[in-house]
Amino acid sequence: MTQLTLPKNSTMLSKDFIYGVATASFQIEGAADKRLPCIWDTFCATPGKIADNSNGNFACEHVKKWKDDIELIDSLGVDAYRLSISWPRVIKLDGTLNQEGINFYINILDELMRRNIKAFVTLYHWDLPQHLEDKGGWLNRETAYEFAHYVDLVSQALSGKVYSYATLNEPFCSSYLGYEIGVHAPGIKGREFGRKAAHHLLLAHGLAMKVLNKNSPESLNGIVLNFTPCYPVSSSEADLAATAFADDYINQWYMKPVMQGAYPDIIEQLPAAHRPDILAGDMEIICQPLDFLGVNFYTRLRYEASDTDYYHELPHQAPMTDIGWEIYPPALTELLVSLHEKYELPPIYITENGAAMADKMVDGEVNDQDRVDYYNAHLNAVNDAILQGVNMAGYFAWSLMDNFEWAEGYSKRFGIVHVDYDTQVRTVKLSGKAYSQLITRR
Ligand code: FCB
Repeated sequence: MTQLTLPKNSTMLSKDFIYGVATASFQIEGAADKRLPCIWDTFCATPGKIADNSNGNFACEHVKKWKDDIELIDSLGVDAYRLSISWPRVIKLDGTLNQEGINFYINILDELMRRNIKAFVTLYHWDLPQHLEDKGGWLNRETAYEFAHYVDLVSQALSGKVYSYATLNEPFCSSYLGYEIGVHAPGIKGREFGRKAAHHLLLAHGLAMKVLNKNSPESLNGIVLNFTPCYPVSSSEADLAATAFADDYINQWYMKPVMQGAYPDIIEQLPAAHRPDILAGDMEIICQPLDFLGVNFYTRLRYEASDTDYYHELPHQAPMTDIGWEIYPPALTELLVSLHEKYELPPIYITENGAAMADKMVDGEVNDQDRVDYYNAHLNAVNDAILQGVNMAGYFAWSLMDNFEWAEGYSKRFGIVHVDYDTQVRTVKLSGKAYSQLITRR
């Protein structure tokens, strides 16, 4: 099947359901010399951290090619474009607005508006200014207030141009990957750090929500969380308990405070030194009403009990994408339904879903049938969740184009558009054409 097909009566075929493509600043922009350094510049410069020793200095040269890229986005027929703002591009060392930096985004937003494409703006997609990391980064509570200040300036400068703001993208990755297991920037390792960083990120989210609701009450304001649903390897009591612990530790740790103002009960089982520093009033700040919840989904993981730790995570199993993540679409339906059962949810957007595949360019074409199949299965998984009562408002493909895939560098390609990094030529893949057809056929 080269097409993406949903059941004929699917509400995902109505014009009210928003389809978009997503990117993030550090992954596509380049022009690193025109902004302040961020933690990913430093991480990339540290030997052994990035699979292909690459960096974000040039990336997809989007700062140069932004106009063509928006024309490309428009040519796909999407309703929306999810982009992120580079904090170190728009705020100067002294904390004031960098006018040249903010103009770059103003131009993009004006062009999107001219083309009637809704702008979904993420305010933090991992590129923390390095000078803030030098003062402790997300381990320093002050960073949350610095973030609120940045959001205040940016949301005033972009007034009236943004359809939706997300405060953070995937605080799990920023805190757990960045400050607990150290595989992402800033590369800090230790159980005593991850939850502390997470708390300050969540505090930053809550403070920023208040700012957004004041400066930009007309936009849809919310947060983007990633979920990797946890499955037990057996139904033994021990495996079930370990799996539930893992779910609380990696997924609900971010969801529950945002939605219900409390961490999962497993917090009591953590040694005091591993717990976050929660001040009076913090949980109320974190738990702000959301206009939407962004859900990023790629894969699931399986767990069993461990004698030495809270849980043991098993390696991914086949079928897998090129980045080694299991392809298991039912987990997306089950995730959405379970969130719907556990929480009072605002409308949900799938803010990221997609696959890295080992693409081959043959005669100027990329026939990524494997990625088409991935999208088809996952779009239908979303539809299944709608049939079970989940309020779904939209879906964004990750990603518009191949880009800098963090610790994997440029070796993994997630785009529905191929990027030749030598020439910066963009070529719409079969998956891009199929996605475009699904959207324009409606
Ligand atoms: C998510 C990130 C996004 C992209 C995808 C593959 O965790 O938000 O930037 O790298 O994974």
